[in-house]
Amino acid sequence: MSTAAAPGDPVLRMEAVRKSFGTSLVLRDVDLEVAPHTVTALIGASGSGKSTLLRCANLLEEVDDGAIWLDGEEITDPRADADAVRRRIGVVFQAYNLFPHLTVLQNITLAPQRVHGLSRAEAEAQARELLERLGLGAKAGEYPDRLSGGQQQRTAIVR
Ligand SMILES: Nc1ncnc2c1ncn2[C@@H]1O[C@H](COP(=O)(O)OP(=O)(O)OP(=O)(O)O)[C@@H](O)[C@H]1O
Ligand SMILES: [Mg+2]
Repeated sequence: MSTAAAPGDPVLRMEAVRKSFGTSLVLRDVDLEVAPHTVTALIGASGSGKSTLLRCANLLEEVDDGAIWLDGEEITDPRADADAVRRRIGVVFQAYNLFPHLTVLQNITLAPQRVHGLSRAEAEAQARELLERLGLGAKAGEYPDRLSGGQQQRTAIVR
């Protein structure tokens, strides 16, 4: 619901925001208030849901439950104008340069095979060992757009 924001009210407020991807619960009832003219840092392990929270605030992801208010206006209301919200929130995305049409494993094994002449089996064995060391063993078959920013960054480091 839209209510006029008073000076000093939070510019961004989240209440009990919940978001899952499949069976993985990424945001569990997150409450957050950001006062005007303040800086807030989200700190947490890679893959813990920081970017997902920001994507929810920008309506790039739909929350499963809970609500978000921007300047007193509930933007998770289905009637909210997503384009108008995005005009008011700027997002600097994490950068990566992975091939989007290749899986993590294919991204990593491409150059060793093409450039260094390794067999596919050799390249994959080496890649899987490195992926395990960086906590990405379960993501070998995923496409980059299904990884967190840090997971993409580490994939690029492995490559
Ligand atoms: N579209 C998606 N489909 C399935 N799983 C996803 C999707 N987007 C993110 N995830 C998963 O949700 C979890 C949280 O991802 P998120 O990008 O929010 O992490 P993060 O805290 O920003 O991490 P980092 O510090 O690495 O950037 C990760 O395990 C990620 O693999
Ligand atoms: Mg992130």
